[in-house]
Amino acid sequence: MSHKKFDPSRAERLIAPERYQELKPDVILSQLGIAPGSTILDLGCGNGFFTFPAAVAMGDGMVIAADMSEEMLSLLRQRSTPDNIQILKVDEVKMDVEDDSVDAAVLIAVYHEFKSPLDNLAEITRTLKSNGKILILDWDPQADKERGPGKAHRVAKTQAIRTLEASNFTVESHENYTQDMWMIIAHTN
Ligand SMILES: C[S@@+](CC[C@H](N)C(=O)[O-])C[C@H]1O[C@@H](n2cnc3c(N)ncnc32)[C@H](O)[C@@H]1O
Repeated sequence: MSHKKFDPSRAERLIAPERYQELKPDVILSQLGIAPGSTILDLGCGNGFFTFPAAVAMGDGMVIAADMSEEMLSLLRQRSTPDNIQILKVDEVKMDVEDDSVDAAVLIAVYHEFKSPLDNLAEITRTLKSNGKILILDWDPQADKERGPGKAHRVAKTQAIRTLEASNFTVESHENYTQDMWMIIAHTN
């Protein structure tokens, strides 16, 4: 795998209505099974595709919208963000997020961009409460490529499961979520 980063000039398509219809953030949230009042880390949040529905679902909880791209975060800032969204610029791995403070980390179309997934998973684990969850949705290298990153930039679901297990996560479920994206839900021990 290589880890080509998303081009911010293409950000508008991330929040297109067709993407909402296809990826259904409400379904993602219900699969995650996190109660209102919880804290979600939306890592690689981009311009906020999942951040806004997550903030509505969390009610008096919180969404930490974290991204390493200042350009993507500035697009997010241009949208009117409710008080329960905390925007956070992070490094490739390190995040200024407290230990044991996050109920669930959600990674949508970002895992394949990580340079060192084991290091990111260790950093995510540090921020997660015990029995905290992670949900990863990413591109299937076996799918016919009509869109999305090139196959060489994608990570197989089986490979991501192995990396999660090596990082001491227990996988709860995995599925082919759309015709070309898989989803894994796992929790810390
Ligand atoms: C394809 S975009 C997806 C954005 C959003 N999750 C969505 O689904 O619309 C990938 C995002 O991940 C961010 N990213 C890549 N590597 C990252 C890292 N190591 N830490 C934080 N963000 C990262 C990029 O800057 C980009 O905004």
